[in-house]
Amino acid sequence: MTFQPQIIAGNWKMNLTVSQGLVFVDRLLAVLKGRELSRKLILAPNFTSLQPLATACRGSVIEIAAQNCSEHEAGAFTGETSIAMLKDAGAAYVLIGHSERRHIFGESDALLAAKLKVVITEGLVPILCVGETLEQRLQGDAVTVVTRQLTEALAGFSGSQLLVAYEPVWAIGTGETATPDDARQMHAEIRKFLRAEFTWGDEVPILYGGSAKPGNAAELLAQPEVNGLLVGGAALDPESFLQIAEV
Ligand code: 13P
Repeated sequence: MTFQPQIIAGNWKMNLTVSQGLVFVDRLLAVLKGRELSRKLILAPNFTSLQPLATACRGSVIEIAAQNCSEHEAGAFTGETSIAMLKDAGAAYVLIGHSERRHIFGESDALLAAKLKVVITEGLVPILCVGETLEQRLQGDAVTVVTRQLTEALAGFSGSQLLVAYEPVWAIGTGETATPDDARQMHAEIRKFLRAEFTWGDEVPILYGGSAKPGNAAELLAQPEVNGLLVGGAALDPESFLQIAEV
């Protein structure tokens, strides 16, 4: 299924300060002025940049996503950020279960299910990230792992809006990209899962992430069920981000 428009999302991870982020957005908006863009743009900056960037992007084609959230609604959770805070700061989306959260910070599927619940309660749109490690792929377990991640994180999911990002762990920040065939096959599996799970499963945009860049974006975006890209390193520079958006 083809979604209109496709989505190009930039995950800045722990890069770019508030002032650097504002310079990025200024440059991007200046170049976009008077230009028709067929794709939708999302930027996921660090927490401190959410509000200033959301303000700078208001009324433009760029929407803002947070990179993480607490599974709690409010309370004594020092250092955590609630969904209500993200929403109030101007975020429309939130990444849930990015592979760095899973593998560096040990976030489990059960925790991600709890986060998804609070995201839905507060009315933000989750971008659920899934993906297998190299070892799991080499063992032939990639589809099983991704299906398990989807099943466990989405158990009891009662929202009506969702994005999924397939990010094979071995392709993140490595320069190694899934072949268009790898991406096509996994996206087809994810679509099959979503269709079986939700009456609106056909409408869920499925993004690919993992060393996406201007040189490979067109081929990836041409694959069936690849409805957009979640870009890390190549989204830190407005020119390369824009090149990806315009391939
Ligand atoms: P890279 O594009 O740097 O591989 O990062 C991908 C990613 O993790 C986006 O969330």
